[in-house]
Amino acid sequence: MTQMALQGPIPVGIDDIAFATGSYRIDLASIAPRLGADPAKYYKGLGQEQMSVVGADEDPVTMAAAAAKKIVDRAGVEDIRTVIFATETGIDQSKAAAVYVHELIGLPSNVRSVEMKQACYSATAALQFASAVVARNPEEKVLVVASDIARYDMNSAAEPTQGAGSVAMLVTANPRILALDVPSGVFTKDIMDFWRPNYRSQALVEGKLSISAYIDAVQGAYEDYRSRGGVDFTEIDRFCYHQPFTKMAYKAHRMISANLGIELTPEKEQHDLAPSTAYNRLIGNSYTASAYFGLLSLLDTVPNLTGERIAIASYGSGSVAELLTGVVVEGYEAQLRSEENAAVLESRTELDDETYCAMQQVTHEDQGEYSNVEAGANLGNGPFSWKGVEGGKRIYAAR
Ligand code: HMG
Repeated sequence: MTQMALQGPIPVGIDDIAFATGSYRIDLASIAPRLGADPAKYYKGLGQEQMSVVGADEDPVTMAAAAAKKIVDRAGVEDIRTVIFATETGIDQSKAAAVYVHELIGLPSNVRSVEMKQACYSATAALQFASAVVARNPEEKVLVVASDIARYDMNSAAEPTQGAGSVAMLVTANPRILALDVPSGVFTKDIMDFWRPNYRSQALVEGKLSISAYIDAVQGAYEDYRSRGGVDFTEIDRFCYHQPFTKMAYKAHRMISANLGIELTPEKEQHDLAPSTAYNRLIGNSYTASAYFGLLSLLDTVPNLTGERIAIASYGSGSVAELLTGVVVEGYEAQLRSEENAAVLESRTELDDETYCAMQQVTHEDQGEYSNVEAGANLGNGPFSWKGVEGGKRIYAAR
């Protein structure tokens, strides 16, 4: 249906969107024997087929810079006044990863750079904060980059829900892809469903609790959205949920529809959700970037979306959720990179289980003050590399 954005005096939203991911992938059928599982458990039970795996010299910064580079290569660096890096797998407890990205993609010094954290949710907060900056001064552009590597303990039930990826978005006035509605709904509840203490590289998780916490939080965010003047659930054309595994989006959509008394036929479910799950099914959980991979997947795989109202349902364990909506702008197709995006996913090098396990065991965090990552095996092939650590300082370079 053709809809009008519920906007302030000036439309604000997503003007460009691009992604990067790990240079490697593993098919979940390849890890199933080690975990004693039938591959159907992953393909059907979790709705996951593959996971992206980073090369030894790739990390959240190199992926973020690779995604952001596509945006500045097209739009230039002019008028970008802010970079917000959303992540829960940051590489430093003090310095913002945004500062490294700022340098790698060649932004001028008159830019503010900052990092944000709240599990998988913070990219949505970044999008809202970016929109506020632009609404205050419509001449300014904000670069939002969400980037994460999802790591759980090997051989745990959560291992098949790992993944890696980054999505960069340019937030501007008069956006050419998605004009964001002003109403949005938010929800916070202190809950220990997933967390990663400072001393660990892998997250800790209460898997079953996390599923019910996710659904309750998104439902709460929708109720708040409605109370703030957002449209009825039935007036939203498509849904892009946070996807720790794609079946999670279906679980949430089914439960919320049932709670609202909405009949969800298989055809309607296919229409509302399926196109937003294609990329995540191949990438795995990319934490902060996941809901926005959902948006990219929808934009790239369904034609003629102009005028449709899209919901982003964002959830970050711990927990915070937000439901926001936007309307697809006429002519948005000119801003997409659909063929290039499909080629990036296809070109990842496929791993066998043995090589993948060996790569997962290398955590460079353990290497202390000095390491030469670039000298190791299984390097990435993106435009930027993490060369290693010198005197405790991480070194990045264009490849
Ligand atoms: P598990 O123990 O593998 O779960 O853990 P399971 O045994 O219940 O199996 C999963 C599904 O596979 C079930 O389907 C089975 O029936 C089915 P369901 O009943 O749920 O619809 N199944 C099969 N289907 C077909 N053929 C078969 C077969 N066998 C079984 N042969 C769990 C799964 C997701 C809990 C685990 O992987 C995990 O802990 N993952 C990490 C946590 C997570 O992803 N939570 C999601 C919500 S929280 C969130 O999204 C936030 C997060 O992204 C972090 C952040 O915010 O930062 C995680």
